[in-house]
Amino acid sequence: MVSRVIPVDPFDLVIFGGTGDLARRKIYPGLFRRFCSGQIGPETRFIGAARTELDNKGYRKFVADAINEFYPEAANSRKKLNAFLKLISYILVDALGETGWDQLADIADADRVQAFYFSVAPRLFGDLAKRLHKHGLAEDNCRIVVEKPFGRDLESARELNRVLARHFGEHQIYRIDHYLGKETVQNLMAIRFGNMLFEPLWNSQYVDHIQITVAESVGVGGRGDYYDRSGAMRDMMQNHLMQLLCLIAMEPPAKFNPDAVRDEKLKVIRALDPVGMDDIVRGQYEGTGDRAGYRIQVGNRDSTTESFVALRANISNWRWAGTPFYLRTGKRLRDRASEIAVVFKDAPHSIFDEDAGRHRNILTIKLQPNEGIELGVTIKEPGPGGMRLIDVPLDMSFAEALGPEEADFPDAYERLIMDVIRGNQTLFMRGDEVEAAWAWTDPVIAEWETLGDEPLPYVTGGSGPDEALMLMHRDGRRWREIKA
Ligand code: BG6
Repeated sequence: MVSRVIPVDPFDLVIFGGTGDLARRKIYPGLFRRFCSGQIGPETRFIGAARTELDNKGYRKFVADAINEFYPEAANSRKKLNAFLKLISYILVDALGETGWDQLADIADADRVQAFYFSVAPRLFGDLAKRLHKHGLAEDNCRIVVEKPFGRDLESARELNRVLARHFGEHQIYRIDHYLGKETVQNLMAIRFGNMLFEPLWNSQYVDHIQITVAESVGVGGRGDYYDRSGAMRDMMQNHLMQLLCLIAMEPPAKFNPDAVRDEKLKVIRALDPVGMDDIVRGQYEGTGDRAGYRIQVGNRDSTTESFVALRANISNWRWAGTPFYLRTGKRLRDRASEIAVVFKDAPHSIFDEDAGRHRNILTIKLQPNEGIELGVTIKEPGPGGMRLIDVPLDMSFAEALGPEEADFPDAYERLIMDVIRGNQTLFMRGDEVEAAWAWTDPVIAEWETLGDEPLPYVTGGSGPDEALMLMHRDGRRWREIKA
């Protein structure tokens, strides 16, 4: 089975922050892969824009080095890489001054999509939008792509939305949450709304609870400064985990189109109860030497920022009242492992003897590293030992089911950039969605600040503070093991 690649029309993509980390790690390697697949043709143009003094040749070298480093398979496609580099040029642009803008306006082509990727500090978003508009680069064929963080609270997100709206229509603004570009995350919608099997059971009558885990084994690395101002609540919970929660909990949209999907997601966020302090645990990793603790990694600061957060969320609507959602995310945990587990209720009555054992169905949607779906079903233990029950997984690893080539999914950024060019906003956050998510997380953060709350320590390589385990134990439930 070979999937069809549908080429996009030639377009221009200007990357502000074109010499930055995201451009190196994700954007250019992703664009190169799309070029190799034939989705991007030779008339497309990529323009790096930044404040560094560079000529086209120097910039192409920068891009080639980035691709070689972050997509080593490029070594087998020398010719393709050279052809790709020909599409690239560089303009020195100052977001806060006049340098470069006329040049950018001169090369703009009104007959094709012009996308502007804001891969810069959020404080520059407003200036970039203003100058694009001033130079005639906010017409209907123009789109802007905005990276997270989108504000640091409701007020700043509102302000950002206001500033962007002065120069661009909502249909031109693509707010990225790269989790929405992950293959299995989109599969969540296919699983729910493409099958008859699950949706009838997808409610509080049949579902005991849902667990969402996004665990990372890495620490804050070189991003200590940014991270220490954010913490897990702002960096992961307010966006990535909230988006997963929305897709799992939303009502079926009437159509798979951007506003229908985003309307349903918004309703979920608005139906969330406020989180009480008893329902949330925050932690910070400790450690020494190779496995240095958080405070050491952020520059020996006496920081109270959390690198872990676990909470219990309740959605007050007809479908979910009574079914808790447990969400957790953290750095320096045992494994890089993200999954959503839908834990179904016990059968109402067991016809088997007590010692046959009681079992539950669990549908696990594995997001990373090994994408797949697993359905835990109860069967009879094989052999002559009488009627005993055991749980076995009906396991569908995408790599096994589809073959390694088909399961070589595009990176989230590749897919999302192609969606920008195709003009499909389904996998991007709408302004009101982002604001609603902040409205839910803000009171929690404010209360931590008021209380001067200290995060609980946890050892690196574990599963977070014990109190996070208690969050479920006290409800008679337990977290699934964090395992890649
Ligand atoms: C980013 C966060 O948005 O997502 C990082 O800022 C985090 O702190 C990253 O490490 C995780 O993304 P992924 O795709 O590796 O799960």
